[in-house]
Amino acid sequence: MWRSGVADIAVHRSVLQCSKDFAARRAYDLHMKRLTGRTAVITGGGSGIGRSIAVRFAEEEATIAIVDVDSNGAAETAELVEQQGASCRWFESDVSDNAAANEISEEVVQHFGSIDVLVAAAGVSVGKTVPDTEPEEWEKVFSVNVKGTYLWMRAVIPKMANEGGSIVAIASQLAVSGGISNAAYVASKGAIVSLCRTAANDHAMEGVRVNCILPGATETPLLERSFARFEDPTPYVERSLSRHPLGRFGKPEEVAEAALFLASNDSSFTTGSELRVDGGWIGG
Ligand SMILES: NC(=O)c1ccc[n+]([C@@H]2O[C@H](COP(=O)([O-])OP(=O)(O)OC[C@H]3O[C@@H](n4cnc5c(N)ncnc54)[C@H](O)[C@@H]3O)[C@@H](O)[C@H]2O)c1
Repeated sequence: MWRSGVADIAVHRSVLQCSKDFAARRAYDLHMKRLTGRTAVITGGGSGIGRSIAVRFAEEEATIAIVDVDSNGAAETAELVEQQGASCRWFESDVSDNAAANEISEEVVQHFGSIDVLVAAAGVSVGKTVPDTEPEEWEKVFSVNVKGTYLWMRAVIPKMANEGGSIVAIASQLAVSGGISNAAYVASKGAIVSLCRTAANDHAMEGVRVNCILPGATETPLLERSFARFEDPTPYVERSLSRHPLGRFGKPEEVAEAALFLASNDSSFTTGSELRVDGGWIGG
C-alpha cells in the first residue's frame, strides 16, 4: 500500500484544517448553549423519555415542537419547556399519519425557520409472545414504532439536507438482547436500529447524522404499564433489576443527556451508531 507525497501533504493539511475548524467551533460553542438557535421536533414528547428530552433541550436553548397523540401530555410538556424560557409548539398527531408528518413538519419550518433535530421517541408495546400476539397488535406496534420513525425521518431529512441535522431514534436495549413476552416490541426496536444505520449511510454526505439510543428499563409510564400486565409484577421487577449491573432502573433524565450529546455538535463525528444507556444490561 502506498500514497504519494502530494496526497500525504493534502491529507495532512485537511486533517489540520479539520482540527482547526473543530477547535474554532468548540471555542464558539463554549459561548453558547449546546442547542442555541436550533429547532427540535420530538415525537412522543408528551410523556416519559420524550418529555425529559424536550425539557433538557430547552435548557440548552433549543426551540421545541412536540408531536404526540396525547394532547394533554403534549400541552403539559410545552408548559415545562416554556418555563425554561424556550419557545414551544405542540401538535396532537399520530406518528403513523403520513400526511400529518408532512404538514406538521412544513408548519414547524414556516413558524420556526428550520428543523435541525428530530427525536423519534413515540413508542408503544404489547407484552405478548409470538403466538399470543394478534396480527392487529403486531401491526399497531410496527405502525407506531417503525413506520412512525420512518415517516418522520422521511418528512424532515429533505428539510435538513441543506444545513445539516441530527436524528436521534429511541430504540431499546432489547433490540440487541431480546426480551421476554414482548415479541412485536422487540422486533420493532431491532427494525429501528437497522433503519437508522442505513439512513445514516444514505444521508451522511448531506450533513444529516442518524443515531439510536438503546435505553435499559427507564422509570416512565411505559415501564409501569409493562409491569402492570403481570398479576404479580414483583418477580418481573426483580428480574429486570438484576439484569442491570448498575442495580437500578434508569431515569428519563439520563436518557435525555445521551440524546443531547447525539443532537448537538458534541457528537459531530458520530453517525450510524447505537448509544447504550442501559445500566450495563447488554454487557452484563
Ligand atoms: N421506559 C423504558 O423502560 C424504555 C426502555 C427502552 C426504550 N424505551 C422507548 O422510549 C420511548 C419513550 O418511551 P417512554 O418510556 O417515555 O413511554 P411513555 O409511554 O411515557 O411515552 C411515550 C409517548 O409516546 C406517545 N405516543 C404513543 N403512540 C403514539 C403515536 N401513535 N403517535 C404519537 N405519539 C404517540 C404517548 O402518548 C406518550 O406520550 C419509546 O419509544 C419506548 O419504546 C422505553
